[in-house]
Amino acid sequence: MARVIGLIEARLPLSGRSFLDIGCGKGDYIWAMAQKHRFGRAWGLDVSAENIRQAEANGRAGGDQEIRFLCQDFLAFETPLKFDLVFSESVLHYLPASLETILGRLCDLTTPDGWIVFSWCRNSPANWLRCAVRRLLALFQLGPLEETIIWLGLTFGRRGLSREKIASSMVYLFQTPRRGLGRAALERAAERQGLKLMAVDYIPSYSPLALDHNIFFLKRI
Ligand SMILES: C[S@@+](CC[C@H](N)C(=O)[O-])C[C@H]1O[C@@H](n2cnc3c(N)ncnc32)[C@H](O)[C@@H]1O
Repeated sequence: MARVIGLIEARLPLSGRSFLDIGCGKGDYIWAMAQKHRFGRAWGLDVSAENIRQAEANGRAGGDQEIRFLCQDFLAFETPLKFDLVFSESVLHYLPASLETILGRLCDLTTPDGWIVFSWCRNSPANWLRCAVRRLLALFQLGPLEETIIWLGLTFGRRGLSREKIASSMVYLFQTPRRGLGRAALERAAERQGLKLMAVDYIPSYSPLALDHNIFFLKRI
């Protein structure tokens, strides 16, 4: 998370801007970023009521920022508001919608000169292999495998990875994204929506079965 926040901070002005986190989970990005930057408005939305409850419970002092968490499906979410930065980390590639639909919905939520920043799993042989293993694992019961997966992560994953982090990500391990996304394919689709791809960064996998991602920075033009 610190790496992703650092990449955003290096490229975009945040203070006083409005921020929307799609699939905000337990609100980690919003709370971490709101501590450092004074957003005008920071909203998180997530389809899971339990995540939204925890995001609210994780609350820290937000000062005069308007921080809100909404239990909403991004694909059905309606608001007249537009946001300067629409962000989504490790969510969009799981959604049952085409890339065009997803980009169109992101655009609808973004101010005319705003930014869209999202991660998407890479279209790489390493991820194909990880997805194949995930599908195999999904055939088994989660319970008996849990300890083995935690052991794998602690032994071969990124240094400092905790048992809690692996355990909390476990539910996503048995979901596989529909497809990876390459730079060229995104560039073509983005252009059709009036978006320009400004930058791409790599987010490495943090454990053997976690997918690696690209994070895309798009600007409305
Ligand atoms: C892998 S987690 C990522 C959480 C968070 N973005 C992070 O990086 O810590 C995916 C999140 O997307 C949420 N999600 C999945 N489908 C969604 C949808 N259609 N609309 C909104 N949120 C969704 C899940 O509930 C979950 O919290």
